[in-house]
Amino acid sequence: MRKIAVLTSGGDAPGMNAAIRGVVRCACSRGMEVYGIERGYQGLINGNLYRMDSRSVSDTIQKGGTILKTARCPEFNTEEGIKKGADVLSAYGIEGLVVIGGDGSFRGMRDLSNKHGIICMGIPGTIDNDLGYTDYTLGFDTAVNTVLDAMNKIRDTMTSHDRACIIEVMGRHCGDIALYSGIAGGAESIIVPELPFDIDEMCNKMKKNIIKGKVSDIIVLAEGVGSCIDLKKEITDRTGITVRTVKLGYIQRGGTPSMQDRVLAARCADRAVELLYNDSKESKVIGIKRNKIIDLPIDEALEIKKVFNKEMLEVASRLAH
Ligand code: ADP
Ligand code: F6P
Repeated sequence: MRKIAVLTSGGDAPGMNAAIRGVVRCACSRGMEVYGIERGYQGLINGNLYRMDSRSVSDTIQKGGTILKTARCPEFNTEEGIKKGADVLSAYGIEGLVVIGGDGSFRGMRDLSNKHGIICMGIPGTIDNDLGYTDYTLGFDTAVNTVLDAMNKIRDTMTSHDRACIIEVMGRHCGDIALYSGIAGGAESIIVPELPFDIDEMCNKMKKNIIKGKVSDIIVLAEGVGSCIDLKKEITDRTGITVRTVKLGYIQRGGTPSMQDRVLAARCADRAVELLYNDSKESKVIGIKRNKIIDLPIDEALEIKKVFNKEMLEVASRLAH
């Protein structure tokens, strides 16, 4: 293929710009033409695309967000919406598309490919780390480091006042942000949607912690379980312990991408472009397994269920002793 396009879709994630830059530069270095599509599938349907070259992505590798902007596009969930998108690509003579996004974006890409024969390559871009076929997604490492930075600060003040605090983190239905930040930040409890959680057991632990002389108690709560306000009420009703809450929210999606996310973006982009350049006959998604870049057919990848790392949660529980 000699003419391709790239878009970002769904929630933005740090490292998306590094991936766009990787796609544009790897394609230009092979003599391919590249178009940037603005605002994800919405921009594709509306025909918002422009020609990019190596200089269009100067000074972007370190930036959070996405220079191509992103959107959630309900119209792309319909047959007509997907057809409009395919028509725009064919009007421009674009032969291949790189989609940087999460599970929803990949489902859109699969429809575009299966129903209209457009060859697409997916690069996993979401802070949630909720895709089963890859060990990591772009943005996850940065988001966890952002949570850790906040946790360190929260711990300072909670320790000074001998207080307990619930920190609610993002992740949609996935507990990975809570799990990794909880372990790395030394949380006393980590609550995730993938595993049942016993509130009475946690409350007893909090009471014992006070007796044992633990001066602060940090509970990391994944948003997929529920809200920190509801949990606070349940704990206070059961124990009488005063609990503070912090919902970290969108700061987890912003900021300069970490080394891990930039390197992952570069490696995934290079593979995506290589597959398009070599005229791949099927649409694929790129990922990383045991530090090796992998690609596999989109249909196959979307069937792979995300497996929660239960052993890591057990380690966290021993560390909180
Ligand atoms: P993410 O890609 O981060 O999971 P979303 O789930 O919001 O984010 O999906 C991003 C966009 O992908 C949606 O707004 C929609 O345009 C498209 N999309 C999601 N699911 C589907 C689907 N089943 N079929 C077609 N398009 C979809
Ligand atoms: O998928 C990324 C994510 O930040 C989730 O962690 C969160 O649940 C969701 O997007 C928030 O979406 P919105 O930007 O629509 O509020």
